Amino acid sequence: MFDELRDLYQEVILDHGKSPRNFRALEHARFHAHGHNPMCGDNLQVFVQTDADNCITDASFVGKGCAISTASASLMTEMLRGKTLDEANALFEGFHAMCTTGDAAAMAGMTEDDADRLQVLAGVREFPVRVKCATLAWHTMHAATHGKDEISTEGEGGI
Ligand code: FES
Repeated sequence: MFDELRDLYQEVILDHGKSPRNFRALEHARFHAHGHNPMCGDNLQVFVQTDADNCITDASFVGKGCAISTASASLMTEMLRGKTLDEANALFEGFHAMCTTGDAAAMAGMTEDDADRLQVLAGVREFPVRVKCATLAWHTMHAATHGKDEISTEGEGGI
């Protein structure tokens, strides 16, 4: 990766990590789940609200995490708004593939803007232990929208 691009990505992660967007609980959210990473003790809660057409009208999170997990949650909550639940979960699948396999095809269904934003975090695939940081909020959103109350990065059902 070019140094300038790497610097830009680090800047975005630091910005969202220090000043997370949508960092608040959402009362009466339709979907809500807890996500834990027992290896480091980090945990967060994700909230998703939709309208009657399953379009996401608001998304937020609270919790304690490292810069990468916080930045990822922050970016995710910004990106989810306006998407349908199906689109949100397709984005989750694509982002997960980007972080684990680097599969460019995973980005095929994404808008250019979404792909650009997620590319900032997809560099974690070079650091396997960080994949869990980058995907914790996304797994938590996926769990919430599939009727699960919580998800852990470790053990049965872990990510
Ligand atoms: Fe705990 Fe990143 S170190 S989620």
